[in-house]
Amino acid sequence: MTTETTVLAIETSCDETACAVIKYDSLANRYFTLSSVVSSQIDIHSVYGGVVPEVASRAHVERIDGVIEAALSEAGFSGRQGIDLIGATCGPGLIGALLVGVSAAKALAFAWDLPFIGINHLEGHLFASFLDESGPPEFPAVVLLASGGHTILLEIVGPGDYILLGQTLDDAAGEAFDKVARYLGLGYPGGPEIDRLSKVGSPKSVPLPRVMTGHDLDLSFSGVKTAVIRFVDAHPEVTNADVAASFQDNAVLALTKRLFEGAERVEAKTVMIAGGVAANSLLRESVENEAKARGVAHRIPNRKDCTDNAAMIGAAAIWRYLESGPSDPFMGAKSNMKLTYR
Ligand code: KG4
Ligand code: ZN
Repeated sequence: MTTETTVLAIETSCDETACAVIKYDSLANRYFTLSSVVSSQIDIHSVYGGVVPEVASRAHVERIDGVIEAALSEAGFSGRQGIDLIGATCGPGLIGALLVGVSAAKALAFAWDLPFIGINHLEGHLFASFLDESGPPEFPAVVLLASGGHTILLEIVGPGDYILLGQTLDDAAGEAFDKVARYLGLGYPGGPEIDRLSKVGSPKSVPLPRVMTGHDLDLSFSGVKTAVIRFVDAHPEVTNADVAASFQDNAVLALTKRLFEGAERVEAKTVMIAGGVAANSLLRESVENEAKARGVAHRIPNRKDCTDNAAMIGAAAIWRYLESGPSDPFMGAKSNMKLTYR
């Protein structure tokens, strides 16, 4: 009996058209990224200062076939041969964008007579850490999932078994980066711009309130965002680099603090970060330093596995399939799909 399972996975929940081929070897308990192709639409949307849903859907339609072909050929496949499953992000995300990926995946599954696995995008982000060459993390793990639409702190008891420890009470972390960047007149998406500019700014130049609330392990970004705007209005001479560095320092401090408070509470064996904000240089450095200081194992996925991609969807799809078989054939795109947690 073969110990290998290979998936072709598709991700189109927002503004990246992505396809990956991932192999899992159950004997070695390791996932292998055979290819991971991401066609970003950032250039198209940046002129609007944000993602325009209808424009995103059209761009997915134009690109999806080429991206699938590229992922297959980069992985050394020429068609169905060697592929065992087809996975796709079903939600949450932009409905028109999701429909393009789900329809392409279902069409391939039907044409090639393969099982279809629908994946929650947030669960996909959690699986980015499973792609590490040392295999899946040790559990229980605590993960900070911070993206453009979500910021949640979860305990992963085991794959598929999640407990919510905390979440943002207002803006998602990525959204706060994007809003501050937009206010400063930087490009879209703002997170990478703030990250880049911060390297030449001073983090202590703008006095800002802590990103924090009294509520348990929750977070709140609206106060600090408003404080940035007020400070810049009152001090027009302050440089964008100093504002970016001060905001980033503040946000990273809070995110790191919550992650390790959560880890301590559940006595986590591993701490992890996931989602687009996990690509942030300072957050990566801060989590690594803190984990080393505390002697806790940590997982920081490669940058390209943090922002939206299909490799993470592929890893989640293989796990789900081996755990519970194919998805219901009527499972379709759902823009407000929720992650199931306790
Ligand atoms: O996970 P993701 O690619 O898409 C969603 O599922 O939302 O996350 C996108 C978010 C955006 O808000 C973007 O500004 C942020 O991740 N981001 C960053 C960095 N790279 C992407 N934030 C801070 N620093 C970065 N280097
Ligand atoms: Zn995402």
